[in-house]
Amino acid sequence: MTMTATTVQEIQLEQVSMRYRTDASEVLALQQVSLNIGRGEFVSLLGPSGCGKTTLLRIMADLLQPSEGSVTVAGKSAREARLAQKYGIVFQSPVLYDWRKVKTNITLPLELMGVKKADRERKAAELLELVGLEKFRDKYPWQLSGGMQQRVAIARALAMEPEILLMDEPFSALDEFSRERLNEELLSIWSKVGSTVVFVTHSIPEAVFLSDRVFVLSPHPGRLSAVVEIPLPRPRTQEMRNGPEFFGLIAKIRDSFEGV
Ligand SMILES: Nc1ncnc2c1ncn2[C@@H]1O[C@H](COP(=O)(O)OP(=O)(O)OP(=O)(O)O)[C@@H](O)[C@H]1O
Ligand SMILES: [Mg+2]
Repeated sequence: MTMTATTVQEIQLEQVSMRYRTDASEVLALQQVSLNIGRGEFVSLLGPSGCGKTTLLRIMADLLQPSEGSVTVAGKSAREARLAQKYGIVFQSPVLYDWRKVKTNITLPLELMGVKKADRERKAAELLELVGLEKFRDKYPWQLSGGMQQRVAIARALAMEPEILLMDEPFSALDEFSRERLNEELLSIWSKVGSTVVFVTHSIPEAVFLSDRVFVLSPHPGRLSAVVEIPLPRPRTQEMRNGPEFFGLIAKIRDSFEGV
């Protein structure tokens, strides 16, 4: 998807800055970041460690208040969006409960919202199929591989059918093979649920493979240094990773870092 005048805006950041104050010092983690994300778009926040990616994601999710600037989500405040359950969040390490089976880890948000057991069962079956874990529904998280655990976390984030899926380096702890497979699976899930995705990564190939657009952040202080369109057709395939267009886009993003 490319951004056009007719694209419905989902997330808008206006001049967002974030200062962390500790006892003795102050860190300017983000400096005047402005960006727009369209409804249904898949975007990545890309940059080196410490450039403010998690900070930016937390601000979008209303888990953190910016020092300056504003966040608008579908025309309302981030707080209203959070209260309206518009967000599903997947963290870097899957925060699963060891004493709950896969099935009930996934339906935890529904349980907290007081959804009836029969409806939870139905939703669990649907989500387990979506992430390909039907056979593991009665296993415990510690019986699964890291990649499977992350799929459980994704299923749980999708339980409330969020309009926006925020993902903070969800695959960075995985080996390259699992990661590439999960990238493809995530795109297949996204094509079915149609939510807006904001995906944090420090991997350039991962950002290129997944995204409609890549927001490149530079560190100290974190600023938006480039926005790169990824015009690769969808569905994206593993073969594309070997094509000249893919390498061209990687080079383009790398160049945008060198200019920083
Ligand atoms: N709670 C905090 N208090 C003080 N400084 C913080 C806090 N959280 C983050 N920072 C600082 O803000 C900057 C941005 O941190 P952030 O975690 O957003 O980076 P990141 O891009 O997500 O890094 P990584 O890729 O390592 O996860 C860093 O310099 C970090 O030290
Ligand atoms: Mg981070």
